[in-house]
Amino acid sequence: MQTVLITGVGRGIGKALAQTFLEKGFFVIGTTTTGTADFARENLFVCKLNLSSTKSTKECVEAIHGLGKKINILINNAGVLLDEDETTLIPERLRATLEVNLIGTADFTEHLIAGMAPHGHIIFISSTAGSLEQTGHLESHWPNHYPAYKISKAALNMYMRTLAQRLKKDGLIVSSVHPGWVKTAMGGDEADITPEEAVGAIYKFTLTSPETGFFWFKNEKLPW
Ligand SMILES: NC(=O)c1ccc[n+]([C@@H]2O[C@H](COP(=O)([O-])OP(=O)(O)OC[C@H]3O[C@@H](n4cnc5c(N)ncnc54)[C@H](OP(=O)(O)O)[C@@H]3O)[C@@H](O)[C@H]2O)c1
Repeated sequence: MQTVLITGVGRGIGKALAQTFLEKGFFVIGTTTTGTADFARENLFVCKLNLSSTKSTKECVEAIHGLGKKINILINNAGVLLDEDETTLIPERLRATLEVNLIGTADFTEHLIAGMAPHGHIIFISSTAGSLEQTGHLESHWPNHYPAYKISKAALNMYMRTLAQRLKKDGLIVSSVHPGWVKTAMGGDEADITPEEAVGAIYKFTLTSPETGFFWFKNEKLPW
């Protein structure tokens, strides 16, 4: 039985990811900020994780290592959007955003690398909001919303890229994935697709062996 570790399985894309991998017969290690989930299965282990806290990260990693399972797929899904309605950078919100979307995610990942199975795949759920190319159209009339979130996802992509270079010799694949605009607490009701639709594409992607170190949407490379 293959093992997948997914952060943020309490709701949204993470919950749909966990339920899909459970249906496909994976052993699923999920994290939530409460340590509980509103679904239970024999092949599900839920761990409490607050990515803003190094103590919480360490405790969650210890619990995961205690299971004695090698991780085939790590999906860093948990994330925050704290400046949705802002067009001006608010330093405190940037700090809080980076704590979760970048620093906490990187800290968690670094602790888990040694526990990855050979040919394992580390995936970061990123966003086209972090694409320099897409935000680079300065003549665009679209307001430049949520700068802290955009910065965090651009930085996350760079962490992914440096990690991919580092782990290439070990045979591990590292990728960033854009899920689409998804109807969740973060994406809102107006979004294009349901979490289940988004996860269908992400699940298919995990079954491929993509070139390491790139940014993907539905198996197509995205511009940085
Ligand atoms: N929705 C979209 O349209 C969209 C588009 C592009 C990218 N994304 C990315 O997709 C990922 C999932 O987003 P979503 O739409 O499913 O959002 P969501 O419904 O708001 O869910 C966010 C998840 O992150 C977890 N989380 C938040 N703060 C955390 C912390 N400090 N420590 C650990 N976990 C924490 C939440 O846990 P709790 O439930 O316990 O709070 C929740 O499970 C995010 O990385 C997001 O940036 C989403």
